[in-house]
Amino acid sequence: MSQTLPPPIPQLLPDSAPFTAEQRAWLNGFFAGYLGLGDGVTALSPEEGAALMAGVPAAAKGPLDDDDDGDAPWHDQAIVLPERMKLAEGRPLRRRMMAAMAQQDCGQCGYNCEDYSNLIVTKKEERLNLCVPGGKDTARMLKSLYEELGKAPERPAAVPATPEPPALPATTVITRNNPASATFLSRTRLNRPGSEKETWHIEIDLNGTAIGYTVGDSFGLFPTNEPALVDAVIRALGGPPDFPIGGRTLREVLIDGVSLAPAPDMLFQLYSYLTGGARRQKAKALAAGEDPDDDAATLDVLAAIEKFPGVRPDPEAFIESLDPLQPRLYSIASSPKVHAGRVALTVDTVRYKIGKRERLGVASTFLGGRIKPNTPLRCYVQKAHAFGLPADPATPIIMIGPGTGVAPFRAFLHERMATKAKGRNWLFFGHQRSAFDFFYEDEFAGMKAIGLLTRLSLAWSRDGEQKFYVQDRMREVGRDLWAWLTDGAHVYVCGDAKRMAKDVERALVDIVAQHGARTQDQAVAFVGELKKQGRYQQDVY
Ligand SMILES: Cc1cc2nc3c(=O)[nH]c(=O)nc-3n(C[C@H](O)[C@H](O)[C@H](O)COP(=O)(O)OP(=O)(O)OC[C@H]3O[C@@H](n4cnc5c(N)ncnc54)[C@H](O)[C@@H]3O)c2cc1C
Ligand SMILES: NC(=O)c1ccc[n+]([C@@H]2O[C@H](COP(=O)([O-])OP(=O)(O)OC[C@H]3O[C@@H](n4cnc5c(N)ncnc54)[C@H](OP(=O)(O)O)[C@@H]3O)[C@@H](O)[C@H]2O)c1
Repeated sequence: MSQTLPPPIPQLLPDSAPFTAEQRAWLNGFFAGYLGLGDGVTALSPEEGAALMAGVPAAAKGPLDDDDDGDAPWHDQAIVLPERMKLAEGRPLRRRMMAAMAQQDCGQCGYNCEDYSNLIVTKKEERLNLCVPGGKDTARMLKSLYEELGKAPERPAAVPATPEPPALPATTVITRNNPASATFLSRTRLNRPGSEKETWHIEIDLNGTAIGYTVGDSFGLFPTNEPALVDAVIRALGGPPDFPIGGRTLREVLIDGVSLAPAPDMLFQLYSYLTGGARRQKAKALAAGEDPDDDAATLDVLAAIEKFPGVRPDPEAFIESLDPLQPRLYSIASSPKVHAGRVALTVDTVRYKIGKRERLGVASTFLGGRIKPNTPLRCYVQKAHAFGLPADPATPIIMIGPGTGVAPFRAFLHERMATKAKGRNWLFFGHQRSAFDFFYEDEFAGMKAIGLLTRLSLAWSRDGEQKFYVQDRMREVGRDLWAWLTDGAHVYVCGDAKRMAKDVERALVDIVAQHGARTQDQAVAFVGELKKQGRYQQDVY
């Protein structure tokens, strides 16, 4: 199901106040935060809000003044794009644009989904291709919706001469648009030899930066592309590596300025201008989102160039046609109270083969191999929307985090250790094989020994004949889980959004029905109520 939505921000300003809907929402959040009402979470920082305020005349009637009721039934990352668009039918353009986004509120674009769409509609953000999890489908939908505002910006990808120019005035506040330079310290493999996985414990030194964080937050970082892939692209392109582009070289821009996967529609559009006949038709079809050769899903930038051999685009036009290289987010796996000036991450390396070529996840292989210890790393902290320890340290917590989903729970446990929190802690961890994939095994054993980790429940999916997952373990101990819930426990889920998070929620509903003596509908409502109360929180991706 969906990532838990932040609790509604109290409405402190009267409706008659002379602000647009966007300004009112921001101000309500700002005042609520200041007064300590609600959770005070605002999508924009005060500086960003001020910039927004400065840019829009207070009494202006604009595309945001549409009396929309604000309800966003599509705001659920488990709903697929066509269904989200259906749910947004008949709603103002900004709402439909929001529905086109991946609903993760992950901030990789620099905003949350709602702010990104509002800024596009008010023409303060021209780039329609910033939603990393939504990918090409979101970019295409935004482009088609943009037609209602006029023609879509011709070159939405316009590549910066230097990476990512700040969209807001540079301040000492570290954000995606004003990242800090930290120091990459180390990577340690978390799987033992023989594992099918390659997962790394990463340590980063934050000393000398203005970065601060709280457990539950995510860490954003700017990766670079693999040099061998960049060189293959340059060879296929036939352009000189030192071709000048905006004061930098072609190779430099390919290393840190643009995404090399997947090939964007604009690249195919460019090829359609440069070829003729059947090849032109093919390029046009690909640019329109069609799949003439049944291979569109496999076309990264290199494969796209190779699909049109002999075509020589101008390197500058080529670069302009690509998407910007976006930062990636990782759940923070440490507590600043234990590791002052440091942050730890748990990163699964993405590698897969298409044909003969191995494809690399850009950021995970950057962290898992390319970046050298003691070198700088551009980064920032993405504040959690509604994912954090309970305010009362005595509240019991149940943490469900298979695979890399364990990351924030290591941070929670460290924090509870540092603050000597009295609350009981129950961790569900699972992975492929107990012999190879038991992340932080010694640490958790130590935490159990000192009584910090009250209970550790494990699920190894590939140890036996049958798959066995965390939710299977949860069902086995359902009676105890229900008892913890009746004691006021908060439940946390982290990791895979597509399957695991939904299955875990289903298991919890079944447990509530069975052990709480409720009908299925009542159990669904019970879990819904837990979410509303902030007692069921998710950090899923
Ligand atoms: C809030 C948040 C927290 C996160 N926390 C963590 C974390 O703690 N640890 C962690 O490891 N990740 C985490 N992620 C995911 C992380 O941000 C990246 O998405 C992940 O590391 C992959 O990024 P990448 O740049 O390496 O891969 P990319 O270059 O983005 O490539 C990934 C893409 O490759 C394609 N792909 C992947 N596998 C295959 C395959 N087998 N076949 C075909 N195509 C494939 C898919 O299109 C996929 O989207 C988190 C994400 C969010 C939003
Ligand atoms: N955006 C990206 O490209 C990217 C990159 C990295 C990770 N992720 C996401 O993050 C998740 C975490 O990756 P990870 O490497 O840490 O671990 P993972 O692949 O999620 O695997 C962790 C454990 O979860 C099990 N599992 C599979 N399906 C499940 C289900 N429906 N319910 C419960 N458990 C299930 C796996 O079992 P089996 O594998 O044996 O079935 C494995 O034992 C990935 O699943 C992926 O969705 C995304």
